[in-house]
Amino acid sequence: MKFFIDTANLDQIKEAQDLGVLDGVTTNPSLMAKEGITGEQNVLNHYKAICAIVDDNVSAEVISTTYEEMIREGEALAALDPKIVVKIPMIKDGVKAIKYLTSKGIRTNCTLIFSPGQALLAAKAGASYVSPFLGRLDDISTDGLQLIEDIRIIFDNYQYKTEILAASIRGPLHIVNCAKIGADVITGPLSAITALLKHPLTDTGLAQFLADHKKAAEAAK
Ligand code: G3P
Repeated sequence: MKFFIDTANLDQIKEAQDLGVLDGVTTNPSLMAKEGITGEQNVLNHYKAICAIVDDNVSAEVISTTYEEMIREGEALAALDPKIVVKIPMIKDGVKAIKYLTSKGIRTNCTLIFSPGQALLAAKAGASYVSPFLGRLDDISTDGLQLIEDIRIIFDNYQYKTEILAASIRGPLHIVNCAKIGADVITGPLSAITALLKHPLTDTGLAQFLADHKKAAEAAK
């Protein structure tokens, strides 16, 4: 399973990269705005800065919504760095843009997926990734994990190469459940990834090991 971090914050991306388990980054216009990144050139420079930190898979989202504008914007984003994956919203022109960009060898991530049918359409268009938003479905009392299970069945039935990128992850249990049902990738905040480290028995077990070692060392003096 690949781990992506869902942020445009360079410090957090560096911290996740330093941990040694990071496979990529996803951003969106809201995350870029949160970091105060505005203006076309600043946005492009920020994507380049992210690409300089990680090994691959930097999802950069278009902000246009027509076919012609999305392919122009997508090609400009892809030209920044071979690590860029162009993120395209699940709308009619978006499906057409995914088909075009795929034909040009540009990787795409179809975002804002909330139904199995949307994921099927994106896979047929050739998307490299589909991003079902797990947390946002859970937020409205709908089973986000069920959506990912349904997409897994459909993609396996037809051997689609499109990878399921479980997005809108809220915490460590989301990550574990996604792993159990075979999502290819998760993207979430750094806090959800580092929370996987924690177990109280690990802490008490380590404290006991170190105390026993110290006691034995003192006794041997
Ligand atoms: O980047 C897309 C997705 O992960 C958004 O997550 O937390 O805004 O629902 P969230």
